[in-house]
Amino acid sequence: MESLESVVSRALAEFVSTQDAAELERVKAQYLGKQGRLTELLKGLGQLAPEARREAGARINEAKDRIEAALAARRGEIANAALEARLAEEAIDVTLPGRGRGRGSIHPIIRTWQRIEEIFGSIGFDVADGPEIETDWHNFTALNQPEDHPARSMHDTFYVEGHDSTGKPLLLRTHTSPMQVRYARMHKPPIKVIAPGRTYRVDSDATHSPMFHQVEGLWIDEDISFADLKGVYTDFLRRFFETDDLQVRFRPSFFPFTEPSAEIDMMFASGPLKGRWLEISGSGEVHPQVVRNYGLDPERYIGFAFGSGLERLTMLRYGIGDLRLFYDGDLRFLRQFA
Ligand code: PHE
Repeated sequence: MESLESVVSRALAEFVSTQDAAELERVKAQYLGKQGRLTELLKGLGQLAPEARREAGARINEAKDRIEAALAARRGEIANAALEARLAEEAIDVTLPGRGRGRGSIHPIIRTWQRIEEIFGSIGFDVADGPEIETDWHNFTALNQPEDHPARSMHDTFYVEGHDSTGKPLLLRTHTSPMQVRYARMHKPPIKVIAPGRTYRVDSDATHSPMFHQVEGLWIDEDISFADLKGVYTDFLRRFFETDDLQVRFRPSFFPFTEPSAEIDMMFASGPLKGRWLEISGSGEVHPQVVRNYGLDPERYIGFAFGSGLERLTMLRYGIGDLRLFYDGDLRFLRQFA
């Protein structure tokens, strides 16, 4: 039979070579389990004479104590190693510099949007918001834009799936002018509102983006004339560009929903753009048919509307040459407005 001494030294050696708790418990069972070596030896004691039994029993128990002590020690080592490994894995290097929190800033277009709301708000204009997916009626028909008007072409307008209740196609609004109609049909005169928002056209180059921003302005009452348009818009431009040193001109033009219609041009008296007429907005006195479509009597109500591009105003204010910079999300560009 294997000597007690060699059982003990084998057990100790096997404990030391185990790598994890489960393996250790398996090895332990081979020595101290029900059918373990030591257990077998203890069982054999019965066959010995009382004298020899006591002596052998004491030796076996001593061996068992050594094995149990070695087992406890190895358990401790394995637990420690597991803890060390976990700590190493989850280590946080407290000496690393903090990530910090980048300070955000307002996008230049939104900054323009906010300034416009502030300026018009200060002279009593309400601010309205409306859908970007429009009906054919609000975007075109109600604005006196006939069925065969070129703006309705597939090349110029994004049509979307689906139809309104009259079976007409839905589209991404091509301008903010449908907000004239929506707002006027929900409010009683005097109507004095701006409606800034996103607009869409099939167009893409350095000065056109398929998505862009406009602000619609509308003032309707019993006696709002072209002179009011001139005064309000000139005042707006001076406040927007923070200078009285600019000229404004109203150049005859055509829109189906205004009569007369005008392009508004402006010219700086100083700075890099000095001396050049810059087109800034469409405008005009609202066409009587459009006033009728508001649900109002054009014999009684009259007023002006304008629609200006926010990108254009922003580019002129900051001297930006390429409109695509607004949509690239390049932080080097955006940080300049922080
Ligand atoms: N909706 C016109 C455009 O997008 C601008 C405009 C608005 C003109 C209001 C006149 C009156 O070009």
